[in-house]
Amino acid sequence: MTHTPGSNPGGATGTNPLWGGRFTTGASSLLEEINSSVHFDFRLAEQDVAGSIAHARMLVDQGVISVDEGQAIVNGLKIIAAEIAAGDLVLDRALEDVHMNIEARLHDLIGPVAGRLHTGRSRNDQVAVDTKLWVRDAIDRLDSLLADTIRVLAERAETHCADVMPGFTHLQCAQPVTVGHHLLAYGEMFLRDRDRLLDARRRLNESPLGAAALAGTSYPINPDQTAAELGFNGVFRNSLDAVSDRDFILDYVGAGATLSIHMSRLAEEIVIWSTPQFGFVTLPEDLSAGSSIMPQKRNPDAAELVRAKAGRVIGSLITLLTVLKALPLAYSRDMQEDKEALFDAADTLELCVRTTKAMLTGIVLHTKKTRADAEIGNATATDLADWLVAERGVPFRESHGIVGRVVKALEAEGRELRHADPEQLATLEPRFAGLPADVLIVDHAVARRTSPGGTAPIRVSEAAATLRKLNEQLSIKEPAK
Ligand code: ARG
Repeated sequence: MTHTPGSNPGGATGTNPLWGGRFTTGASSLLEEINSSVHFDFRLAEQDVAGSIAHARMLVDQGVISVDEGQAIVNGLKIIAAEIAAGDLVLDRALEDVHMNIEARLHDLIGPVAGRLHTGRSRNDQVAVDTKLWVRDAIDRLDSLLADTIRVLAERAETHCADVMPGFTHLQCAQPVTVGHHLLAYGEMFLRDRDRLLDARRRLNESPLGAAALAGTSYPINPDQTAAELGFNGVFRNSLDAVSDRDFILDYVGAGATLSIHMSRLAEEIVIWSTPQFGFVTLPEDLSAGSSIMPQKRNPDAAELVRAKAGRVIGSLITLLTVLKALPLAYSRDMQEDKEALFDAADTLELCVRTTKAMLTGIVLHTKKTRADAEIGNATATDLADWLVAERGVPFRESHGIVGRVVKALEAEGRELRHADPEQLATLEPRFAGLPADVLIVDHAVARRTSPGGTAPIRVSEAAATLRKLNEQLSIKEPAK
């Protein structure tokens, strides 16, 4: 499709045929360059056609255009939909954006009757409805990828519910935990991410179509009808707000930024765990990369990139917030700058969740190494203090001090609790006489932590089942009205 200035019904040669009536000269190439968005907003093409078909049908039902006119418009739009699906729609930068390109193509296909489609509508409510439809689909895609990822986490957590690993605070050895428990922590984060996405979807699902440019319209339109046809649950209540609201993008990218942070935390742990020094995991070869100079290298590139791409999603969120800040009502062209940040955030998020799921599926856990390392760093010190409380009636603050002094004494000899047996401990502190050996054993330490949400294998197994259930319940979509 090419822009044919000669066919401009409203304006001078060289002016935009869709709004050139009050212009005598066309756009400078500079304006064309800064103004045109079709090279990115072509991604709204499918949504644009769907919105236009709904609008045309409504105009017919309301008697605003004739049945024949409506039929011609809808048929033309269906041809365009097929062209879009086949990748055949030719886009012209001089026509600014995807909306004008589609309308011009409709004119090519069905002639001047195409000009009736834009009755009672503006590009302002048009772009708002298109973008909402796009974000709604993006939420559904991301949500379903996340639900799959949670399924993988729940399954792997169940498998490793009794395998022991070090638990860290400050990245220092703290207390032993189970591998399943650690994995389920990410399951909880991703479940909240899903909840935030579904919350954003629910709030988004009101149609802005019918707000027109900013003030509504004098045509007897029926926004409820277009809303229902496009799968919205309701309709805007204020036309000024409807055309200038981009909260739904902020909600989606904001939830996405939190998700990207969660993924970056997991990715960072994978990077650390896959070092030979930690040796907790091996990333599958197909998610690792080598070095051009060091033949031995196997780098966790997939994890590093997920870690880094969080910065990109956060960047998109900042772009969006900054573009919208202090914009007066109603529509301003600034809003066109929302698209690239939105699309980039969506693409990045989907790629990162798919990569995260692949890493979680393929990662090999070295549970002998994680268990051995769980003994390092006096990780059972709290268990020892707790034993004095439970079996010798010592107040916790005092037992804390006793064990601290024991650890310090061992440290002076270059040893840790794992090198000492109960008899040796009793020589350092008489109240340890009669201490059962299992208090110092990490498997027993995790098994004792049966408090709700704790790390004991029995709790982790239950928690994996609960996570699985909550994940499936959250999949239930809001009922359409
Ligand atoms: N491409 C524009 C955008 O994305 C469409 C709206 C243009 N509206 C206008 N009044 N110029 O925001």
